[in-house]
Amino acid sequence: MTHSSHRYHITTFGCQMNKADSERMAGVLEEMGFEWSEAPDDADVILYNTCTIRDNAEQKVYSYLGRQARRKHEQPNLTLIVAGCVAQQEGEALLRRVPELDLVMGPQHANRLRDLLEQVFNGNQIVATEPIHIVEDITKPRRDSNVSAWVNVIYGCNERCTYCVVPNVRGVEQSRTPEAIRAEMEELGRQGYREVTLLGQNIDAYGRDLPGATAEGRHKHTLTDLLYFVHDVPGVERIRFATSHPRYFTERLIRACAELPKVCEHFHIPFQSGDNEVLKAMSRGYTQEKYRRIIDTIRRYMPDASISADAIAGFPGETEAQFENTLKLVEDIGFDQLNTAAYSPRPGTPAALWENQLSEEVKRDRLQRLNHLVSVKAAERSLRYQGRIEEVLVEDQNPKDPNQVMGRTRGNRLTFFEGAIADLKGQTVPVKITEVRAFSLTGEQVQLAATCGN
Ligand code: SAH
Ligand code: SF4
Ligand code: F3S
Repeated sequence: MTHSSHRYHITTFGCQMNKADSERMAGVLEEMGFEWSEAPDDADVILYNTCTIRDNAEQKVYSYLGRQARRKHEQPNLTLIVAGCVAQQEGEALLRRVPELDLVMGPQHANRLRDLLEQVFNGNQIVATEPIHIVEDITKPRRDSNVSAWVNVIYGCNERCTYCVVPNVRGVEQSRTPEAIRAEMEELGRQGYREVTLLGQNIDAYGRDLPGATAEGRHKHTLTDLLYFVHDVPGVERIRFATSHPRYFTERLIRACAELPKVCEHFHIPFQSGDNEVLKAMSRGYTQEKYRRIIDTIRRYMPDASISADAIAGFPGETEAQFENTLKLVEDIGFDQLNTAAYSPRPGTPAALWENQLSEEVKRDRLQRLNHLVSVKAAERSLRYQGRIEEVLVEDQNPKDPNQVMGRTRGNRLTFFEGAIADLKGQTVPVKITEVRAFSLTGEQVQLAATCGN
């Protein structure tokens, strides 16, 4: 089979794991000789890397797919791939729903894209969703940024939060070895990347599945050990990690973050609900008191640390009073950012089968009230930056103003300031903050010598 133009397009939905997987799959396609096409309509291999965390995420995929499936009738050479979490959830059923598909592949199969595509080009329609041991990746990812990179450290999730589809679609925890992670970071450092975000759905579980647990049951390769192990990688100036789980978050980890200068003072620790009964129904394994203690400890070591989280409004059975406990937690802690969502029942999860579901109206109303409070609190948190000098790692031009560049503070606030991207990309620049908004800042560059010792 010939591919006249040899172009591919990937649209990525969902979380950072999917973004990281897409970058690796793009790397495979480029190694096979395909070239990136921004427009899906100009591509002859189209890959949708999908998300099913909530129903609206899943529905979005079907509307994109429908369009390309119709195109395939005029252009039979078009290769259509659905990867990621919807692929894993639906498997064969997806082929029945969209018979035009050539390949349905779950997230664990991302690194096998070349193999799978070769079978497709030999005339087969393929479904690859069986659980497998994830093979180390040998191709180079095609990364979206050349300043900041994702590095997977643990795949999958062994938790069983009663609302969540992730364990079903991402499989059991599989940690990469510290050596493989360090090698990838060293390569990134050589290529000029300045920031690395270590990724896992429950990154605190890192290492549990690696050989070498001690007699006391403690594992040898914790996330904390990993931070110490990769901290001195040359070229990498900033290290972040996500997502943290309150059940496993340790003071030892907090101390390491305070001690290691490259680890940024930003923590993403979803709490989901501020009510202990709801947390129990969610099977989260902690109380709101424990969550507050974690944040207190972080702030004791790093008073300025930024805290972000995820929360769900309208979990089955949530009463108005229980929802108010979530509002209270948000009020008390003052998050720098909070990702919120109305509860969405997901196939194959326990909570979806419960009879105490709330109406869409109640969920929507609670979500709105929560969002309102979140932006008020975030705006308050931003005030502390006013007049301060922050280190901004420049990533790109401001898409809305070519005279400005944009980057992030160590605390992960998006910051804009005047400057030329050609000179500043990948530089860490001291910026005096002159304007603050709930989720972003504006400032001006100040001269290094006058502000910092180095
Ligand atoms: N591993 C992370 C979260 C991964 S999913 C953790 O344990 O916190 C990202 C976020 O989506 C979750 O934090 C949760 O807030 C939200 N989410 C997951 N399932 C959901 C559902 N069924 N309905 C609404 N929001 C959901
Ligand atoms: Fe889902 Fe819970 Fe695992 Fe997070 S920890 S991915 S919410 S099951
Ligand atoms: Fe979505 Fe899968 Fe991530 S369901 S949130 S893309 S793990």
